Amino acid sequence: MSYNLLKGKKGIVFGALNDKSIAWKVAERAHEEGAQMVFTNTPIALRMGALQELADKTGSHVIPANATSMDDLNSLIDQSMEIFGGGIDFILHSIGMSPNVRKRRSYDDLNYEYYHQTLDISAMSFHKVLQVCRQKDALNEWASVVALSYVAAQRTLFEYNDMADAKAMLESIARSFGYIYGRDKRVRINTISQSPTMTTAGSGVKGIDSLMDFTERMSPLGNATADECADYCITLFSDLTKKVTMQNLFHDGGFSSMGMSQRAMMQYHKSFEECDEQNDKQE
Ligand SMILES: NC(=O)c1ccc[n+]([C@@H]2O[C@H](COP(=O)([O-])OP(=O)(O)OC[C@H]3O[C@@H](n4cnc5c(N)ncnc54)[C@H](O)[C@@H]3O)[C@@H](O)[C@H]2O)c1
Repeated sequence: MSYNLLKGKKGIVFGALNDKSIAWKVAERAHEEGAQMVFTNTPIALRMGALQELADKTGSHVIPANATSMDDLNSLIDQSMEIFGGGIDFILHSIGMSPNVRKRRSYDDLNYEYYHQTLDISAMSFHKVLQVCRQKDALNEWASVVALSYVAAQRTLFEYNDMADAKAMLESIARSFGYIYGRDKRVRINTISQSPTMTTAGSGVKGIDSLMDFTERMSPLGNATADECADYCITLFSDLTKKVTMQNLFHDGGFSSMGMSQRAMMQYHKSFEECDEQNDKQE
């Protein structure tokens, strides 16, 4: 259902790779709500994905940019402002990648070149986007910027590796830049901490199936889907949340406030029963 929440608003969406991507769902919902958009991703992702199709469907433009490159970002913002005929009202940063995770390096055996890339791609790129926008005065008053995060920024989750450090940095950038941009231009900057979700990046996390089952059992409302995350992003881009800024907003069905749930406890017990049965057989 559409409420015209983004009618007349202009935004840039980073990170839509395919129709599983959270950014893809956000782009679809933003279009339904009346937004005009520019989509961007790395040249290689554009070759692999089907972003042009989504752009054609939604009347959007596609501009290639590596979000770690200041030259690419400068050109992206200049071109977007030209297309929009003025400033930008919302930005979604939906970017994450760890070469250490890809190459299966454990947290106590990190490659530091890769570690630097993880932080640059997954966190520092957020600062770069904001800094370029600020230097060009590209964001309109009350513009809203959202980046996607994960609870591993606060809590240790097995196998999330150096991405946990990147997410902690991402959330900190939202606060630090949120102060400056809010003070000077009333721009809002937040992160959404999303449930584990089966996307291309998500499936790169080792044991994602078990993790999703665990968080589903632990969360009173169950895991939040990519579509639900898109709905939440729309509210943050809309004028209905004008005083929300510098926040890390959990969108996880309640997982981050839980310690143990009945459903998870039952599953845990079951594994003991199976052990007992096996022991009985062996005796
Ligand atoms: N899937 C999950 O379980 C989950 C949970 C919480 C948060 N998140 C976060 O959501 C965001 C989106 O991920 P997703 O799950 O939709 O997966 P996805 O793989 O669809 O999206 C990741 C995107 O990052 C882009 N990217 C990588 N390097 C880039 C670079 N140098 N410049 C520009 N773009 C680059 C990729 O091309 C891709 O489009 C990420 O920040 C991810 O960490 C995902």
